[in-house]
Amino acid sequence: MKNLIVYYSYEGNTEELVKGMQEVIDADVLKLIPKKEKKTKSLFRFVWGGMQVYMKKKLELEEYNVDLSKYDNIIIGSPCWFGTYAPPINTFLSDNKMENKNIYLLVCNGGNLRNTWKNYEEVLKGNNIVSKLDLVYPIKNGIEEAKKKTNEWIKNNLK
Ligand SMILES: Cc1cc2nc3c(=O)[nH]c(=O)nc-3n(C[C@H](O)[C@H](O)[C@H](O)COP(=O)(O)O)c2cc1C
Repeated sequence: MKNLIVYYSYEGNTEELVKGMQEVIDADVLKLIPKKEKKTKSLFRFVWGGMQVYMKKKLELEEYNVDLSKYDNIIIGSPCWFGTYAPPINTFLSDNKMENKNIYLLVCNGGNLRNTWKNYEEVLKGNNIVSKLDLVYPIKNGIEEAKKKTNEWIKNNLK
């Protein structure tokens, strides 16, 4: 079985967990990078992020090359933004229609996932969502523990 991890991370939490998983499973990794991203630690990130979530326009990504037909297992990592998965994941999922894949969902968040799982379930219809894991502020709450939990999760669930 071939594994792909596709992820987006704005503040580094999801990225740390992806790096951890790479140490325990054999997977190709695709990092989604927006063409125009406003990186800031100020509250403006919520304004920018909110615009991306609520605007109808699709956020453009840096070019990437992936042949999804090569993979049986797809692990998707994203922060929760305004109650759903982040805009780069939205772009990726609308540009790449997947079918019959085993899907593993990893979501970093601040404790309020709202519609995240429901939206994933809708957009990923026709696939098998094998397992979901959400972690609250992994870096703030202890990254080593979060990495351990993520690694156990993926090792135990990966088909
Ligand atoms: C624009 C923006 C919107 C967010 N919206 C939510 C939210 O709706 N619910 C929640 O629990 N956390 C929310 N968060 C917190 C992030 O999900 C959390 O900090 C996560 O760990 C960030 O992951 P990352 O470091 O991989 O970007 C938001 C963060 C940002 C920057």
